[in-house]
Amino acid sequence: MQQDAWTDETPRAVNQGVAPVTYGQGDRPPRGDYARARADYTCEQDWAAYSEAEHALYRRLYERQAAQLPGLACEEFIEAVQHLGAPEQIPRFDSLSEQLHRTTGWEVVAVPGLIPEEAFFKLLSQRRFPVTQWIRRPDEFDYVVEPDLFHDLFGHVPLLFNPVFADYMQAYGAGGLKASGLNACELLARLYWYTVEFGLIATPQGVRAYGAGILSSAGELPHSVRVAQPKHVPFDLLRVMRTRYKIDAYQETYFVIDSFQQLFEATAPDFAPLYEQVRGLPEIEAGVVLPHEAPPRVLA
Ligand code: PHE
Ligand code: CO
Repeated sequence: MQQDAWTDETPRAVNQGVAPVTYGQGDRPPRGDYARARADYTCEQDWAAYSEAEHALYRRLYERQAAQLPGLACEEFIEAVQHLGAPEQIPRFDSLSEQLHRTTGWEVVAVPGLIPEEAFFKLLSQRRFPVTQWIRRPDEFDYVVEPDLFHDLFGHVPLLFNPVFADYMQAYGAGGLKASGLNACELLARLYWYTVEFGLIATPQGVRAYGAGILSSAGELPHSVRVAQPKHVPFDLLRVMRTRYKIDAYQETYFVIDSFQQLFEATAPDFAPLYEQVRGLPEIEAGVVLPHEAPPRVLA
């Protein structure tokens, strides 16, 4: 079992993001009660069933992360995080959905854990964001193999209050359904990975995080923003789709957008010809910086 391979020696340099294509880890079935899920993989949150210890764990996770946001997270995220309400208890998805629906037309739905990619894309295309119903165990405070309630809720939900980002997420879901028919899910998953999970954004104050995998990770948040140049690579759609990713270590390179509007516009064109183009080009390994992406050298 893969999880048994984790020891104290396992580097904590691991992220909280899981691409939508990852359903279960190797031979291990995904954690969570799938028997209770509906055909679309949604389930009840069953808020009354959370223990006091689980509420307390949520609060500890929230407070550790919230304290680090200034100077590392983008302003849009910092502003929106208050919509999650007081951290004393795990939020009720229903009341969060009510607020979210009024703001951008999105809802939060509970799921038992990772779900198959088609089901995931379909929910996003319907402006329904799947949040894992269960929260990690106390011994998983720093790292949990599969995304849990804290990653999904704290990392992903705040930016769904941003109108442009909210539209991007829906477009991504629709694009996913299309990519399934074109056998291009892996290429599209790379886009999700390097934007929704591990994206950085340039601001007048400097580079800041907007990706959920970064924002829900105590270690990767400072690492990603402060990592030395030239590991911050300007966002380029084709380049991102050519780039493989690692799910078990901090990222070495991050792609930086100028604005959510730029991201939305860059991803608006039909991807079908782009998938063809990417297939004709070599893949780029994770962590590689291409010569033209390094800052110009000052010649002595
Ligand atoms: N424009 C993409 C397509 O035609 C859809 C998409 C939008 C995908 C935004 C991802 C993000 O497939
Ligand atoms: Co995620």
